[in-house]
Amino acid sequence: MGMDRRFPGQGPGGFHSGRLFRILAIFALIAMALTLSACGVTDDPQSTIAQGGRANERIWFVYNFLWIGAAIVFVLVEGLLIYTLYRFRRQPRTAHGRPVPVHGNTKLEIAWTVIPAVVLVAIGIPTLQVLADLESTPDDQNVMKVEVIGHQFFFEFRYPEQELQTTNVLHIPEDTVIDIDLTSADVIHSFWVPKLNGKTDNVPGRTNTMWIEADEPGTYSGQCAEFCGTGHALMKFQVEVHTQADFDAWVQQQKDRAAGGGEEAQRGQQLAQENNCVGCHTIDGSQAIGPTWQGLYNSEVTLADGSTVTADDAYITESIRNPNAKVHEGFPSGVMPAFDESQLSDDDIAAIIAFISTLSEE
Ligand code: CUA
Repeated sequence: MGMDRRFPGQGPGGFHSGRLFRILAIFALIAMALTLSACGVTDDPQSTIAQGGRANERIWFVYNFLWIGAAIVFVLVEGLLIYTLYRFRRQPRTAHGRPVPVHGNTKLEIAWTVIPAVVLVAIGIPTLQVLADLESTPDDQNVMKVEVIGHQFFFEFRYPEQELQTTNVLHIPEDTVIDIDLTSADVIHSFWVPKLNGKTDNVPGRTNTMWIEADEPGTYSGQCAEFCGTGHALMKFQVEVHTQADFDAWVQQQKDRAAGGGEEAQRGQQLAQENNCVGCHTIDGSQAIGPTWQGLYNSEVTLADGSTVTADDAYITESIRNPNAKVHEGFPSGVMPAFDESQLSDDDIAAIIAFISTLSEE
């Protein structure tokens, strides 16, 4: 009894007796099918294996290099394994029917220490090179500066050269290196546009740098990639890539909008930016964590309980003083802080409402 150490179900032939091999083969096939099914899915808005610009081409180069290298190593190792299984399938046995133990083979041991070290160095050199490339902005003819500031729960974009500011949507021209400074107003966030570059953290009290460059016009999806609180999953944004002419037109349109609307509306816009209202309430109709302000004024609003209300001065004032009293249908409750008299006076709120009233549906 004490001498018999066979496992249940294991015949005299041991592990070579078919069943285990078949189970392993099925697992290997499933794993291969899952891996292959992931290939070709590059149209997804946040796919990291789709190329959208020069920075991502650098990452793609390392990706391919590693992938091809890993495939070669895999074939070599598995080939050697299969060869060994076949070549040494019959070996002298001890009296108990087990293989004779083998001790020490200096050449082999040196080989399997040196080869992985060489492989790691071969992987390390291009990886470090690309990391350095992504850190420092290329000195091109076309470079534009943008500051990205993380807030709970939105990104603020500042364009110092154009003297503009947006939230949630970053507007850039094509074929231009965007030199980005990243900071945070509160906690750690992470700025990530999968098709344009990897992630870089927005850290309070420190400025990180990165750059992106988009080859062609279009909309690129981005996402905060560092858990930053209850609104983290909703902290999405977009990068709108324009042709240079369209970008210049957009800049002009923003300046015209700021100039129109009268003095009170301009003060309201200032207050809305200072108090970060426009982080959650977009002014261009796009979707964010709160209802957009475009077309809001005097519109009919459906509340969470199904009733409707007109978004007039009284409603908007109440929504700033006590945001959770009447929440729009489909938007989260308890996210917006209340603003009392010391933060926004009645005059301030009137100015903000004057600004909102200029944002009619276009
Ligand atoms: Cu910001 Cu997660």
